[in-house]
Amino acid sequence: MDKHQPIGVIDSGVGGLTVLKRLQKTLPHEDFLYLGDTARTPYGTRTREEIAAMVAQITDWLERHQVKQVVVACNTITVLGEATIRGKHPFHVIGMSKGANLVLPASKKKKIGVFATDFTVSTGAHKKAIQAVDPTAQVFAQGCRKFVPLIEGEKFGTPELKAAVKEYADILKKDGVDTVLLSCTHYPFVQDEVEKAFGPGVKVLDPAEETANNARTDLEASGLTNDLTHAGHCTVCFTADLARAKRLAARMLDLSRCSFEQVDLLK
Ligand code: DGL
Repeated sequence: MDKHQPIGVIDSGVGGLTVLKRLQKTLPHEDFLYLGDTARTPYGTRTREEIAAMVAQITDWLERHQVKQVVVACNTITVLGEATIRGKHPFHVIGMSKGANLVLPASKKKKIGVFATDFTVSTGAHKKAIQAVDPTAQVFAQGCRKFVPLIEGEKFGTPELKAAVKEYADILKKDGVDTVLLSCTHYPFVQDEVEKAFGPGVKVLDPAEETANNARTDLEASGLTNDLTHAGHCTVCFTADLARAKRLAARMLDLSRCSFEQVDLLK
């Protein structure tokens, strides 16, 4: 393993770009190789077996592209089992933070909402992680199956998106939450809309920063921090719809630091 190799970042589509943005801030001298499986997004409404098979193809592809670490910038893949990826490949694997240490200090009432994919909600992973730190906290997890297709479909500012945000926010408002965790990496694309729907009394939090800090700590501990002094480059790869994915990437990234490619995972 060499410190000049890139860091792999993966997601089912464009969602992981919200994490990549944070990684570039936290690790400005690192090169990144991003893979968004836009040909098969969304993952969050699929079965465990389907997701596992697709993730195996992605991690094999990353190994062939010689990354030194992989950040799983997808909660669905993380809760499916970032641990099952670990150990099968030479690189370390960092999953999405479950955000317990972010939401608990932010929530006065200890009534916490979680927006995530149906798959993530079905595992109960965030509730378990938060209650492991504070067993008295109440956690209300809400699957938001309409969000990923709307975000991937660039439906920003449309009545359709507004209605979907209102539908899911109204459910958590009834539960009286004062804090909401965005536990799908696509959702920060619509964070403003979510904040508006909840109003000023509710904090909406994104665990990407903590995830990026975990990646940095792991690189430091393994002696793999890049020693370059200039800004790192990011190769952003998608399995389909490159033009659309690029437009979405422009909402998150400094394009002057990126190049884009459409790739075949079997090559
Ligand atoms: N962005 C992903 C997540 O964090 C996956 C969304 C999906 O493909 O359903 O869960």
